[in-house]
Amino acid sequence: MKPKWVITIDGPAGAGKTTVSRALAERLGYRYIDTGALYRGVALAARNANIAMDDDAALAALCARQELRFMRDDAGCRLYNGDEDIEDKIRTPEISMLASAISARAVVRRYLLEVQRRFGREKGAVFEGRDMGTVVFPDADVKFFLDAPLSVRARRRHLELADRCDQTLEGVLKDMQLRDHNDQTRELAPLKPAADAIVIPSERYTPEGVVERMLQEIETLDDRS
Ligand code: DC
Repeated sequence: MKPKWVITIDGPAGAGKTTVSRALAERLGYRYIDTGALYRGVALAARNANIAMDDDAALAALCARQELRFMRDDAGCRLYNGDEDIEDKIRTPEISMLASAISARAVVRRYLLEVQRRFGREKGAVFEGRDMGTVVFPDADVKFFLDAPLSVRARRRHLELADRCDQTLEGVLKDMQLRDHNDQTRELAPLKPAADAIVIPSERYTPEGVVERMLQEIETLDDRS
């Protein structure tokens, strides 16, 4: 395999992107970058500074002050803003909804586009997000789009959240439906598979099965290159 590829994995919330992206990065000895965490980090900062999600001037000034970076630990990767570990704070239902709202703002997308491309300058990485293959890395070496029916994704997310909050399955499903709608219908970089993405229905596989399928696709592309 060509030593340093940029691999993108896009898809809606709960499609299994995080588990699979981490495992794929590990199998390949690549870095794993969770770009949704960056939108969550900006959303948390905006909430803490009492900035409305449509106040573009204040959001632009806020973005300029952010120092978002990932720190590796035994369990994976944690997001820091400056010296503060914000990983747990960004994983709440409230921040999920705020991240979806803030991700529709052009000032925020512009700022994070640069941040993400900086991460990509050093190749050998798996990028997980919504517009990795369509906008951020249109020339990525391999693009995947992971999908699953809403009911399956909501059940997965409900299980994940169970030890952190008491949101009901119906609440998780409703939030997810709204977030899907926001992410798919926004004007800027809406969630959709890139024309050259390999679409994988994750409900048909185990997470390990998805990773194996991805490794096979990578091998096939590598043989052709
Ligand atoms: O992947 P996630 O659930 O952590 O993402 C949170 C929100 O961030 C999601 O609802 C949409 C937005 N997002 C985006 O617009 N573009 C990305 N590349 C990643 C996330």
